[in-house]
Amino acid sequence: MGIIATIVSMELRGRTAVVTGGAVRVGRAISTALAREGAHVYIHYNRSAAPAEELRDEIIARGGVAAAGSADLSDPGRAHQLIRMAEDELGPVTVLVNSASGFPADSLEDVTLEGWRRTMDLTLGSPMFLIQAFAARVDADAQGAVVNVTDVKTMRPYREHLSYVLAKGGIDTLTRAAARSLAPRIRVNAVALGVILPPPGEGDEYVNALAEHLPLQRVGGPEVVGDTVVFLARNDFMTGEIVHLDGGAGLV
Ligand SMILES: NC(=O)c1ccc[n+]([C@@H]2O[C@H](COP(=O)([O-])OP(=O)(O)OC[C@H]3O[C@@H](n4cnc5c(N)ncnc54)[C@H](OP(=O)(O)O)[C@@H]3O)[C@@H](O)[C@H]2O)c1
Repeated sequence: MGIIATIVSMELRGRTAVVTGGAVRVGRAISTALAREGAHVYIHYNRSAAPAEELRDEIIARGGVAAAGSADLSDPGRAHQLIRMAEDELGPVTVLVNSASGFPADSLEDVTLEGWRRTMDLTLGSPMFLIQAFAARVDADAQGAVVNVTDVKTMRPYREHLSYVLAKGGIDTLTRAAARSLAPRIRVNAVALGVILPPPGEGDEYVNALAEHLPLQRVGGPEVVGDTVVFLARNDFMTGEIVHLDGGAGLV
């Protein structure tokens, strides 16, 4: 093969994909979209065992391949173990989606050292060590893809959720740094989310009020995230990119 690639997109069918936080909400839509493309999906969860098992069974009932397993990623030391767990169930992992995250409501006034460390470990440290573990296991002659889930608020931070937004800012930089380090074998991209779903504990009215101010005047919903993760995993000439799914929020 010459310098001009003859492969225009990476086939997802038959590849093993790990989706962290893949059982509920946004992560569930990502797992579902990858399974629809024929990927063998390892649905990682922390507490959501029942939704993870239900999704696994749903994918299998539709003729797909899936497994589910739990790891508490507030300890980044679990990252290597999680990749091995997925491999044991579904074979070599060549797609990794880092979606699991915390969302603590701290601010510059009240952030604590313990809370800061926990958020950094879960929301930035675990994705980094998962990428390290993943990269170490992708064969030298294989193609791999990582998609990180970040937040458009890294550009225009909230007053609240300080440690979260700083960790996600780290995810933006990690996306570019890992893309450089791991090219050409592994592509690393991210999807930055705006108003997609109400935060846990809030209802539709919460996000509808935010959506009124967006150029596209609506809430994104998780399916568009799944479709975009599939696009980023497949696209063979994109790395280090952060795609904003924000209804045009960045324009106003
Ligand atoms: N929802 C939005 O509109 C929005 C906007 C911007 C960015 N995002 C980003 O999109 C991603 C998904 O968002 P979401 O709203 O669907 O998330 P969410 O409802 O807050 O769920 C958090 C996810 O992270 C997992 N998780 C939490 N603590 C964990 C731990 N200690 N170890 C391992 N996993 C843990 C949870 O797994 P279990 O349920 O199994 O415990 C769950 O799957 C996140 O990265 C978030 O920052 C979302």
